[in-house]
Amino acid sequence: MLASRPALEGAGVHLRRAFGPGEVPLADPFLMLDDFHSANPADYIAGFPWHPHRGIETVTYMVDGVVKHGDSIGNKGIIESGDVQWMTAGGGILHEEMPQPWTGMMQGFQLWVNLPAAEKMMRPRYRDVKGSQIPLVSTKTGAQVKLISGEMNDSRGPASDLVVDVQYLDVAIPPGKELRHHVKHGSKAIAYVFGGSGLFHPDSKNAIGPEHTIIFGEGKDLRIKAGDEGVRFLLFSGPPLEEPVAWGGPIVMNTQAELDLAYREFRSGTFIKQR
Ligand code: CO
Repeated sequence: MLASRPALEGAGVHLRRAFGPGEVPLADPFLMLDDFHSANPADYIAGFPWHPHRGIETVTYMVDGVVKHGDSIGNKGIIESGDVQWMTAGGGILHEEMPQPWTGMMQGFQLWVNLPAAEKMMRPRYRDVKGSQIPLVSTKTGAQVKLISGEMNDSRGPASDLVVDVQYLDVAIPPGKELRHHVKHGSKAIAYVFGGSGLFHPDSKNAIGPEHTIIFGEGKDLRIKAGDEGVRFLLFSGPPLEEPVAWGGPIVMNTQAELDLAYREFRSGTFIKQR
């Protein structure tokens, strides 16, 4: 179990980092999870003005709140409460992500999925998933699951045809109920709690609450029980890439030479290959 740490990113956004560069290769194929939650717009309105990405995917999920965005492949719009933006930076994208003032508690997440070496320079692409497209799966044991990507029971999440086979769930379990979940063989599952508390291992007695990450082994059968107030958490899984990671801020490649090239191209204006 990992506790989130405070971090300051973008033009001055106060956030909680669930895991990041210090957890390579523990979280493979995932690189980072940032948790944005605040009732004070001053914590986040500075936002993330224009910046580059290469070699990764960024998956932004707004539980409550609104983010305006624009990018170098011509997309422009808003991510609203319940929506997901699945952005594949591939060979290079420039974008801005600007959280808008929100009344009450803003809650959003950004997950970074690593791209395999063979796809790091792929053509950038962008998926905009509306909250209304995300199926809500009710399990036999009483859990309510928003299925963002992957398959569960007879449903399939709207973020499909992914580079890395990621299953991404937003799970709510009421008090006294549980989730029994089979993680695909060869995939590694990670949970991040953001409401209530729960027991994340069948033999554990200590409930785990918000701002904690649980990294499970590969291909496990999970049994997660809600605590007294229920529990809400993200649960994502994917197959580890097992490749070298060279990480330079918003660009994640396999070698230092690739990173140096990326930053040279960024400085000389040749970073963007496709618009
Ligand atoms: Co970004």
